[in-house]
Formats: sequence, C-alpha cells, structure tokens
Amino acid sequence: MSQKKSLISEITIEKFSKKGEGVAFDDNGNKIVIDNAIIGDVIVAELKKKRKGIIKGFLLEILTKSPLRDEPKCSHFEMCGGCRWQNLKYIEQLKQKENFVIQSFHDFIKTTNVELHKILSSDEIFEYRNKMEFSFSQNQKKTKFLGLIMKGKRFVIDIERCYLAPAWFSKVLIEVKNWWEKFDFSAFNYFNGEGLLRSLTIKEGKNTQDKMVMLTLSDEKILSSIEKEELIQYILNGINSDDKISIFLCVQIAKKSQKTTFDVQNIYGQKYITEILKINTLNENIELKFQIGPMSFFQPNTHMAQKLYSTALNYLDKDEIKNSVVFDLYSGTGTIGMILSKFVKKVIAIELEKDACEMAKENMKLNDIKNFEILNGDVSNILDELISSKDFKNPDFENLDFAKPDLVIVDPPRCGLLEGAIKNILKILPQKIIYISCNPITQAEDIKILTENGYKLMILHPVDQFSHTFHIENIAVLKRA
Ligand SMILES: C[S@@+](CC[C@H](N)C(=O)[O-])C[C@H]1O[C@@H](n2cnc3c(N)ncnc32)[C@H](O)[C@@H]1O
Repeated sequence: MSQKKSLISEITIEKFSKKGEGVAFDDNGNKIVIDNAIIGDVIVAELKKKRKGIIKGFLLEILTKSPLRDEPKCSHFEMCGGCRWQNLKYIEQLKQKENFVIQSFHDFIKTTNVELHKILSSDEIFEYRNKMEFSFSQNQKKTKFLGLIMKGKRFVIDIERCYLAPAWFSKVLIEVKNWWEKFDFSAFNYFNGEGLLRSLTIKEGKNTQDKMVMLTLSDEKILSSIEKEELIQYILNGINSDDKISIFLCVQIAKKSQKTTFDVQNIYGQKYITEILKINTLNENIELKFQIGPMSFFQPNTHMAQKLYSTALNYLDKDEIKNSVVFDLYSGTGTIGMILSKFVKKVIAIELEKDACEMAKENMKLNDIKNFEILNGDVSNILDELISSKDFKNPDFENLDFAKPDLVIVDPPRCGLLEGAIKNILKILPQKIIYISCNPITQAEDIKILTENGYKLMILHPVDQFSHTFHIENIAVLKRA
C-alpha cells in the first residue's frame, strides 16, 4: 500500500470499529477505517496516509448498498459528529451493541453460566435527549458557526435541526445564532484562549417539559444589560409563550495551572428545572422529583434512565434488602440511591462533584427522604476513611450510621472503577454488587478482578440509552460466591 493519498475501489466493509466507523481491509491486511460506511457496503474510498497502523478512508461512492442501511433523517448526518449510526437500521444497531457486550464479556460467557439478557431497546429513537451542548466557532474569515463538532474534526458545523433532541432545542439554537449575528462578539478559540462565546447548553425535564438554556462565555467581556435582555428575547422566540424556562449565563475562567472556575448567573426564570423519574421496580411504582441546576449531571435520556434503574433494581430481592445498608458509589445527584432508599434501611452515596452532592441534598428534602446520606469526595479515598475508622471525626460524617453494606451499586465514568476503588470494595465484601457502566470494556476488566477475588458474575443486561450512537449501557449483577 502506498503511503500517499490514494483511491481504493470495490472494498467491502466487514465490521464496525469500537467507535462505530466502518472497517475494511486491503489486500495486504491493512485496516481501513471509514466514516458513514456500514457493514456490507461495497464502496470506493479515498485513503489517507497510514497512522498508528490504521488507514483513514473517506467514502466517495457506494457501489452496492448494504441491506442494513437506513435513510438518515437528519440532513447534517454525514458531516456531524453528534451521531454515527442514523444510516444503520435500528434493529442492527441493537445487534451491534449486544455483540459488543458479548465480545467484552467473551471469557465469562464461554466459561461460566452467566445469564445474558436481550438488550433493552429504546422507546424513542429520536428526540430522546434531555440535554445538548452546542459550540460556537469562527473560521479565519470570521464566519460564525453555532452547532456540533464535525465527525473526526475540530470544526463546528451549523445545525438547523438535531433529531436527537426535541425540536425546540434547534429553534433556540437558531435564535441564539440570530442574536449573535447582531453583535460583534467573537467565538472562543481553544487554541489561543481568545474570544467570548464558548458553548450553549440546553436542557429539558422530559416528564415536566421544564426548559433551561445556559450560555457559557469566557471572561473576556461582561455582557451589557441590553445584550443580555436581547439574548433573553431571542431565546423566548424559540419556545411557546406559556413554556417555563430558566436562562443562565456562565462565565468560565480557565487559566493555565489553575483550577477552572465557573461563575453562573440566573438571568431569567427559576434557578433550576425539575424532572420527575417514574420508576417501576420490585412490584412498586415510585415517582421522585429531581431539581436539576445548570451544572448538575442528570442521565441524558430520562425515559431510558427510568428503564435502566427499574431493570437494575429488579435484580434484587425485596425481602432480602429491606434491612440492608447500601453504598451508591459514583452516585451523581443520587438518583439510584434515592430510589433504593424506598426499599432499604440506609443508603450512603459517594460522589466527587460538590455541586452534584449539593443538588442531591436538595433532592432528598424535595422527596422527603431521610435514610440517604451523600459524601463528597473520591470513592477510593472516602472508602479508605470509612473502612479505617468507624468513628471518623470529620463533621461531614458525624451522623453517619456506618455499617458494612450488604449491597454496593457502582456507576463509574468510562474509565471504570480504578484500582483503589476495587481494593476497597474487596475489603468491604458486600453480598451483592450491581455494576452499571457506559463502557463494557472497562466494566469487564473490573469484573474480572472481582471474580478472581470471590465474586461470581450472575447477570448481564445491556440497555440502549443512545440510539444512533455506538454507546451502550450495561448492567452486571455479581454475587459473593
Ligand atoms: C456515569 S455518572 C453516574 C451518575 C449517577 N449514578 C446517575 O445515574 O445519575 C458517574 C459519576 O461519577 C462521578 N465520579 C467520577 N469520578 C469519581 C470518583 N473518583 N469518585 C467519586 N465520584 C466520581 C462523576 O462526577 C459522575 O457524577
């Protein structure tokens, strides 16, 4: 294979990469990765220079369309990095995700009798997101762009309609772009750190229809009251007059070798929006309210989060857990723990982000939950402290009714549990562990360590939270052998 740009014709896409791109192989066995190409397509592609053992190809022509192809709904699909699989039939997306979990847990599936459940499909495959973040950008000619990042590039493309989120998100996006056209503000440039407008975050309470918009700026300039007033008016143009909306400005101050700080101002409406989670688990229907602030994390697909939590907790025995102490590790705003608090004696949650902990405390009050406690810090460090001393003197822990948990729920970020957390879980030795993950690869690695140390993997249950993307959520249930 030549190292320069070249064409390759009649190449068949054989599989998907871990990021959902089409993968083909040339006659010399070189791996070629091609965006927007899907398994079974026969294509002509332009190839770039081989880097790190992989050749990147650009789809020029489809000679034979794969039977797995679907017509993308979105006009931006080919360029936009927001989703990767709108051109793949949904049923096939599910199959690919299920296969990914099977591959990640191949050794367990081959050697143990783990129960592998069929992937839980999404009810809504469009307009399911409750949060989107759009970026501002300008090119050298100062043309303004407000939208999503291009596939495989750092450029931003204008978005007229994003079908992953409700229609009003796109209307507000266009209105904010119109507002920007009236003023001479520059987009923030990540390379030189100059410019004002950074990002636009839009959120919705899916079960309440509460709306939120936050414009994030650098500290280059303070918006005048007229500029703010106009911004509010433009945003209001994008929604119905009787809609409830909260609008925020956030000044992000990022200085080299200093912690990034955020100064958030509420310029219109309430300080938070409310979302309701409707959970059907262990033969009970539970409704919990959650206040969501401009900076707080909430699962981005409310309806599938309801299914994810309901399904995960259904793997518990209601009678067995009623006197249990439960640890909810990597708890975010404590959603899983607060649902569980209805069934157990006490839940202790641990979360790194202070804002999420504050929001969890508000949400406890809102739902009148008394048997839930959230501790702010790194899971591994806090477990160290809890394990080493039952009478820990830090005032944060004063009321902590620490008892060895019978059940530990973990829902870590993509990197997984990391060594310190696993070691501590193995010191606690709960009877059961429910491990929810958005990355089956790190999840399988962590579970391997747990099973080498006395646990048995009982159940795997993938859940599709993000249709048209390659992302997959996976529930694993482990029991002490
Ligand atoms: C995938 S989210 C899960 C949130 C929550 N379980 C939910 O469903 O809303 C992972 C959470 O772990 C938190 N986190 C990341 N690293 C952490 C650490 N080392 N210690 C504690 N929390 C951490 C993040 O701030 C985030 O809220």
